[in-house]
Amino acid sequence: MSAKEKPITGTLVNIAMWMERRLHIVKIWNATAGHPIPKTSASWFYTFGSMTLLCFSIQIITGILLSLAYVPSAAEAYRSLEFLNFHVELGWLLRAMHYWGSNCMVIVMFLHMTQVFLWGAYKYPRELTWISGVVLLFLTLAIAFTGQVMRFDSDAFWGVGIGAAVLGRIPFIGGQLVSLLLGGAIIGSDTLSRFFAFHVFILPGCILALVSLHLRLVLLKGINDYPKPGIQVNRRTYDATYEEIIRKEGIPFFHGIDKDLVANGILLVVIVSLAIFVGPNGPGIPADPAVRISDARPDYPFLWIFAAAALAPHGSELLLFFVLPIIATLLLIGLPFYSNQGEKHFARRPIAILVVLLTYLGIGMLSYAGLTGPWSPQMEAWSGAPTKREFIQARTPLELQGALLFQNKQCRNCHALGGVGGRRGPDLSDIGTRMDEPLLVRQVIQGGGNMPAYGNNLSEQEVRALVSYLVSLRPPHTIPAQIPSRPEKTERVSTGEPAKQAQSGR
Ligand code: HEC
Repeated sequence: MSAKEKPITGTLVNIAMWMERRLHIVKIWNATAGHPIPKTSASWFYTFGSMTLLCFSIQIITGILLSLAYVPSAAEAYRSLEFLNFHVELGWLLRAMHYWGSNCMVIVMFLHMTQVFLWGAYKYPRELTWISGVVLLFLTLAIAFTGQVMRFDSDAFWGVGIGAAVLGRIPFIGGQLVSLLLGGAIIGSDTLSRFFAFHVFILPGCILALVSLHLRLVLLKGINDYPKPGIQVNRRTYDATYEEIIRKEGIPFFHGIDKDLVANGILLVVIVSLAIFVGPNGPGIPADPAVRISDARPDYPFLWIFAAAALAPHGSELLLFFVLPIIATLLLIGLPFYSNQGEKHFARRPIAILVVLLTYLGIGMLSYAGLTGPWSPQMEAWSGAPTKREFIQARTPLELQGALLFQNKQCRNCHALGGVGGRRGPDLSDIGTRMDEPLLVRQVIQGGGNMPAYGNNLSEQEVRALVSYLVSLRPPHTIPAQIPSRPEKTERVSTGEPAKQAQSGR
């Protein structure tokens, strides 16, 4: 080192010391990277936790980048994703990384949890670490679910629809929960805004806070020493034994991370490969309540729930989606309390092994069924309810065809006839006295307000049948509504172009 450089080194040391006196970096280092862990805990089986953290970090980075292009509005979301897919350099890769990062996060998290369960790491004194982990699992599933809605394609739409239908079945508070979830009575722009707020602000905030707590607990209570069959956890002696282990064969934390680095490297390669070779998911068909799609599928982490819902016998939904989840949650959270001491190693815990096998078998089989099953979501709501006689008697064949369309195109899900039907739109029992034919044609084809446009889903003839039925909906011996003069333009729009478009679209 030349004489000239010395003052510079001295200045650098001074700056470092100034920083150190204010930030206490040495203390933080000693309490984290430098803190001693049992040598036995540097195991391949103990790498899933850091892998989950890697996934979460990928999600944060790709998520922030995605948010630069994504538009959280019902009208724009779908287009902004197509824009990312096809017009932004590597935009598709960004979407794919976020999608596969999400799937991998759920899987790696399950593996982490399984390992913690089988190695008895949740027992005394790590109860809170386990509980914060369980909450993190639920938050992760929630963020994965809200993320799938961001695509706002038909899968997302039906996913939310099914979620809302399930919530709606909960006694007493079901209705309120649905409007809380959807931001109103229907899936629309408010729904997307709500899910967006959850997906990018509320849930990530909660997850960050809980991850901090989780890691803090890992540091405070130490990493689980690798269990040996026959060695029992005892609340009175454990702490002393653990300290003994640390004193005898403790290593600094950062010496034990080589396996984590390798495992995380492999995981990164897996995620990037999936992103490159399989690509992003969708967006699929644009969301449209008027289109009944036959192959809606939720993302992988929810396939098993979807399958369970499809296979469940009618009437068991309350048990399946309300009672069972509550019991399962209580069992999961309560685990470190009813199994607080005793044997840690899985070789001496046959019931634990059985629980894991059955869980994986159950979820695996249901997911497979969900992936291959022929089910499609059936949004029957009111479409199954018979139409009252007064609304179909003494009608012409064309009007009757319209009545059938009214039923089959799920108009009844939003519109009541004689008080029977959905309440999202106005009751149409006497619509014939309020609107005339051109107005009705326009309403059906263009929708408006909170009603979907049916222009692309009805042929010109079907529109005519539907509208003639709507005109016939009025008290006996009354004449159809006559709306006097209206600009020429409306007339043209209402009967001409959109209907023709619908025809050519077929
Ligand atoms: C997703 C729910 C929904 C569906 C499905 C739906 N509508 Fe509507 N409809 C509405 C809403 C909401 C309005 C009120 C529109 C507004 O706010 O301007 C409406 C308005 C109407 C009106 C005007 C009523 C008035 O009194 O102003 C007619 C007619 C109508 N719908 C017919 C139909 C027909 C026919 C179908 C089936 C092809 C249908 N709707 C399907 C929600 C729906």
